[in-house]
Formats: sequence, structure tokens, C-alpha cells
Amino acid sequence: MRITECEQTDVALLEEHLPSRGRSSFHARRFARQLAGSSTYLIAWEDERPAGAAEVRWNGCAAAEVQRALPECPEINALHVAEPLQGRGIGTALIRHAERLAARRGVPRIGLGVAEEGNPRAAALYARLGYRPVVRYLDRWSYVDDRGEVHDVEDPCVFLAKGLAAAAR
Ligand SMILES: CC(C)(COP(=O)(O)OP(=O)(O)OC[C@H]1O[C@@H](n2cnc3c(N)ncnc32)[C@H](O)[C@@H]1OP(=O)(O)O)[C@@H](O)C(=O)NCCC(=O)NCCS
Repeated sequence: MRITECEQTDVALLEEHLPSRGRSSFHARRFARQLAGSSTYLIAWEDERPAGAAEVRWNGCAAAEVQRALPECPEINALHVAEPLQGRGIGTALIRHAERLAARRGVPRIGLGVAEEGNPRAAALYARLGYRPVVRYLDRWSYVDDRGEVHDVEDPCVFLAKGLAAAAR
């Protein structure tokens, strides 16, 4: 398994192997933010196919609650691994890669959000990797379905953070 930063030609492959929900391309939006310099979009590859991805948002979580509690804390966002490949260490490798990038930038910590309820295995993984709860927030996002309707979603989440003193090694 290898991890690379997304390139323009990877967007179609991401769409093929980790399809976006609804009409608008999840991956194209993330690649556009990388081009704009506000994020790094990481792809994990298995057998030359995208197996998982995560976006490191250098300006931190969009939620005001998190910005207030943890200013200038980059966020690992939209971490996901293709279902048949889950449980093989790919998610962990993406998180560790993001931590090393952040440590090299000299930021003292990095964080990520997890649903308050409904994703206990992900929460257990993050706790094992050293992430600790800092602040509760409402994750607001939207998507356009196949009929072109916009759906606004609000998920109660907890933002977790980890100090990066050891991550650069
Ligand atoms: C959560 C997720 C990114 C973890 O990536 P992964 O490659 O499966 O994780 P790893 O193999 O590195 O680590 C395995 C651990 O991840 C956690 N995990 C969470 N969901 C899991 C799943 N569906 N399958 C396997 N492990 C999962 C568990 O703690 C597991 O440890 P365990 O087997 O001892 O329970 C991935 O399972 C996933 O994409 N899940 C669906 C989307 C999601 O929940 N994203 C996170 C939003 S906060």
C-alpha cells in the first residue's frame, strides 16, 4: 500500500472506486481545495486502485465551535476506506501520514471529528491512536442527490485532537 497526494488524473479513478454520493463530485471539490492550497488530499492505493482517502484541511474544521476551542488546528476530514478493504490498516496509515505532514509544518496538534453516536469502531480507533475529545459541535454539510435536490445534513459530533511532538519521527 502506498499513499500519495491527489493529482488531477486521480479524480476519475477516485470516483470509480470510491463513488461520491449523489450528483456533485466529492473528490473534485477536495482536489480543488488542494489546488487552492487550503488542503492536502491523500489517497491510499492498493493494487494501483484507490482504496481510501482523507483530506487534511490546513485551516481546521469549518465549525465555529471547533475554531474557538482549537484555533489553527488542522483537521483530518472525510477519512474513508473502501468497504471490502476496511480493517487492514489503511485508515491508520492515512491518519499517520496526515500527522507526519502536519508535524513537518510545525503545527503542535491535529484533530478530527467523529459522530457522537453511531460510529463506535471509528471512535475506538481514534482513541487508540491517541486522539482525545476536546469539544462537541454540529457538523453541517450538504449533498445534491441524483434528482438534483440539495440535502442539508447536521450531525452532532465530537472533535478529537492529538499533540504531534512524536509524529514527525
Ligand atoms: C473508520 C475507517 C476510516 C477506518 O479505516 P480502516 O482501514 O478500516 O481502519 P484500520 O484497519 O486502520 O483499523 C481498524 C480499526 O478501525 C476501526 N473501524 C471502524 N470502522 C471499521 C470497519 N467498518 N471495519 C473495520 N474496522 C473499522 C476499528 O477500531 C478497527 O479496529 P478493530 O478491528 O480492533 O475493531 C474505515 O473503517 C471506514 O471508512 N469506515 C466507514 C466510514 C467512516 O466511518 N469514516 C470515519 C468517519 S469519522
